[in-house]
Amino acid sequence: MRIVVLVSGTGSNLQAVIDAVSSGALDVGIAAVGADRPGTYGVQRAADAGISTFVVDFKSHPDRAGWNDALTTAVLAHEPDYVVSSGFMRIVGQGFLDSFPSRYLNTHPALLPSFPGAHGVRDALAYGVKVSGCTVMIADAGVDTGPILAQAAVPVLPDDTEETLHERIKVEERRLLIDTLRQLAAKDR
Ligand code: GAR
Repeated sequence: MRIVVLVSGTGSNLQAVIDAVSSGALDVGIAAVGADRPGTYGVQRAADAGISTFVVDFKSHPDRAGWNDALTTAVLAHEPDYVVSSGFMRIVGQGFLDSFPSRYLNTHPALLPSFPGAHGVRDALAYGVKVSGCTVMIADAGVDTGPILAQAAVPVLPDDTEETLHERIKVEERRLLIDTLRQLAAKDR
């Protein structure tokens, strides 16, 4: 099974996938890693691991439709079985989704449908929940919507900050993402 991973930031979850592949714990091929802006650490991590990278810079396209088309073309060039949004903080358009039907995965650091969006950890903490967690789902045209594939719960501790809670969630998020990819790869065989 070939995957393309999309990132917008530090790519620590991507690193966990790279490590799982290189240790043999996860039998998938990372065909490429792409980003929506230049200079992400996620793309650097991929390059360091010898993985193909590409950037389709959102800001260098005059409109969202043009960016979406360019992203779709760039991802299709790597012929992935699945595309993984791993901290990719852009909503993709219908043209992209239609190119990878039910094959675009997303992870989110909250128990959806609660606390979607770019600040799921902050919003859960502000609400005062005592349990949060992470979700792996098939992405659709909404913001962190789409069929849920897997979830894991994580306790919120009294002294948590957004950073400490997010780190605790990410430990589970990495495990969940790798487990989900392993299951999909087994089905694809
Ligand atoms: C992850 O926790 C991911 O769930 C979140 O961004 C983080 C990326 O971390 N995504 C969202 O919030 C999407 N709504 P990383 O760049 O260190 O892997």
